[in-house]
Order: sequence, then C-alpha cells, then structure tokens
Amino acid sequence: MRIRLTVNGAGVEADIEPATLLSALLRERLGLTGTHQGCDTGQCGACTVHVDGRAVKSCLMLAAQADGRRVLTIEGVAEGEALHPVQRAFRDRHALQCGFCTPGMVMTALDLVGRLDTADEGAIRHGLAGNLCRCTGYRPIVEAIAESIRARRGDG
Ligand code: FES
Ligand code: FES
Repeated sequence: MRIRLTVNGAGVEADIEPATLLSALLRERLGLTGTHQGCDTGQCGACTVHVDGRAVKSCLMLAAQADGRRVLTIEGVAEGEALHPVQRAFRDRHALQCGFCTPGMVMTALDLVGRLDTADEGAIRHGLAGNLCRCTGYRPIVEAIAESIRARRGDG
C-alpha cells in the first residue's frame, strides 16, 4: 500500500507492507535513526515521536495509521544548529548520560511543556511514566521540563 505523510515538514510517499510499524518506516526507510528502539513492546518510550502534535510511541503505531498526518521526529526539533529551548534545558541540567532515551524523552517533554499549565513535579513525573531512563535518575529530566514550562509561562 502507498501512504503519504509529512515528516519534519517534508512530504513523504512510501510503499509499505500493511504491518509496517511507524518506527520501522522512520528508521529503516527514511533513515531517521534518532528515533530509538529500546523494546518494541511499548514500554521504554525511546521511540516517541509526535503525530499531529501529540507524543506517541512509534513502535505501537502502524505506518499506515500515519497516512495523511504530520509526524515530527527528534531530527526536526532543532532549527539548524540552534537547539530547541527544551533541548537546551536538557543540556544545561545534565539531563542525559548515554543519550539512548533522550530523543524519546525530549519528544515527550515537548508535549508536556505544550500542555501542562504548571511545573508541578507530580504532573511531570506522571507525564514521563512511559519513558524509561537507565542512567540519570529522573531528577534532572524533571527539572529540565519544569524549567521549560516556567520559561514558556514567562515566570522562569
Ligand atoms: S521501542 Fe517503542 S516503547 Fe520501547
Ligand atoms: S541517558 Fe542513558 S538511558 Fe537515559
């Protein structure tokens, strides 16, 4: 089957098998390997991307379900050499070590920063429940997201 979608602002057409996962389309067909695969069973969140502006685990979605929709991956977040403010907050707070979980964490963080009204730690931790990190502990990640929410609200 043929699908047409937008990936990081560019139109994409692909002939796929009906069972192709969105994560496989992104990584294997489009070369967007910043979307990581940690488990392929929906548990780790390393494969998180945005579809029509909301964070989804791309290993739990068929590529066919993305037909006609807008997909944003970690490769589309920075503007050229300029990191997105959420990426800068992760860097400045040392919210990564090996970096394996980081693309998925940043994509979830962008979603949370866009929709949480307050930098409440409990709400941030709840929002991060689907993303696992083996390295950092979660405190610097939560702090980076809280800082980004406060900055978005103009009180950071
Ligand atoms: S690879 Fe998708 S949740 Fe782990
Ligand atoms: S920074 Fe290593 S798994 Fe999160």
